[in-house]
Amino acid sequence: MTSSSILSRRQALALGLAGAAVLGGGSAQAAQTPSLAKLAKAKGVQFGSAVGAGPTGSLTGSFEDARYRQVLINECGVLVPENELKWYVLRPDAETFAFERADRIAAFAQQNDIALRGHTLLWHHPQWFPAWLKAHDFGKGPAAAANAEAMLVDHITKVVAHYPQIRSWDVVNETVDPKDGSVRHTVFSDAMGQAQTLDVAFHAARAAAPKTQLVYNDYMGWEAGNEAHRAGVLKLLEGFRKRGAPVDALGVQSHLGTEDPAAPGSLGRPQEKAWRAFIDEVTGMGYDLLITEFDVNDHDLPPGVAARDASEAAVAKGYLDLMLDYRQTKAVLAWGMVDKYSWLQTFTPRKDGLAKRATLYDDAYRPKPLRQAVAAAFRAAPERT
Ligand code: XIL
Repeated sequence: MTSSSILSRRQALALGLAGAAVLGGGSAQAAQTPSLAKLAKAKGVQFGSAVGAGPTGSLTGSFEDARYRQVLINECGVLVPENELKWYVLRPDAETFAFERADRIAAFAQQNDIALRGHTLLWHHPQWFPAWLKAHDFGKGPAAAANAEAMLVDHITKVVAHYPQIRSWDVVNETVDPKDGSVRHTVFSDAMGQAQTLDVAFHAARAAAPKTQLVYNDYMGWEAGNEAHRAGVLKLLEGFRKRGAPVDALGVQSHLGTEDPAAPGSLGRPQEKAWRAFIDEVTGMGYDLLITEFDVNDHDLPPGVAARDASEAAVAKGYLDLMLDYRQTKAVLAWGMVDKYSWLQTFTPRKDGLAKRATLYDDAYRPKPLRQAVAAAFRAAPERT
């Protein structure tokens, strides 16, 4: 790269990143240097992404795409199976463990010297339980509680033991109902009680992997509309501390722009002050932080690509600067690295039918302004150990 193009890139970054895509285009496979993993590592932060094992399931074919794999190899220090460790993939029935799909991702990570992160041992949300589990009969009275506990502990013990290389696990995912901050009900909590179910999960994970970071992961966001969700998560985290449940960190999913789709033509209305107060309380209780599922949902932005990309980059930079300012933030994981493979294409399609631009790379595997915003945030971040 010539010095004049470095200057231009710097200028583009200074100008809110709008020009970075044009400058940063390059050939499809040209690796960006330094990589995001390297930029993050220089500040004591891990960078990586989710990836699906393919070829079945919505959009999870990404793993079979050699060019996609190259982006992951170039940029990532850690990989997270997108769906492959969830009950609905791992557990076709009450007896079977189907590790094959997650094993393929684990092997790819190992071959390329990339770490592996675990997501998730208990997505405590009935919508995401496999049908057989939703209908499972644990019996009545104290026997029901014992049976439910036995199944949950068995699952966690076996899955954690199968992947001893995993140093950070999302143990419980999304159990707070954003409507009123209450804890969701499932067949497990119906049998054992809600606090007991969640505590059992964390204790089982700790017993199976004493040195592994154990995370509560959720999507409470900084946008207006998340007030009850944030309050519910704080209450949950306080409860863990009071009862001595072994929880080390809060996973902040960071699907930016998703929680206030009613905000006209925008990426939501960030409540920066309330958000800082929330993060202050979380860190005040001694929890570490991870950004676990970063993407930017351009659902309500006008169709023009350059303006969309620039808005996303600007919002992301502001958010990441704020989060990385907390020395407790030790990891940033993108929820996919190439737009066409983003779960948001099908989960919340745009009303105008255009493809979303929610991730760091476009469909020709070129880095977007969002990628450069993440790089700029790492460069600006304070060091941590
Ligand atoms: C999503 C996957 O990306 C989709 O492929 C799947 O159909 C549904 O789950 N919060 C989480 C992730 O914790 O597990 C979700 O992943 C996205 C929202």
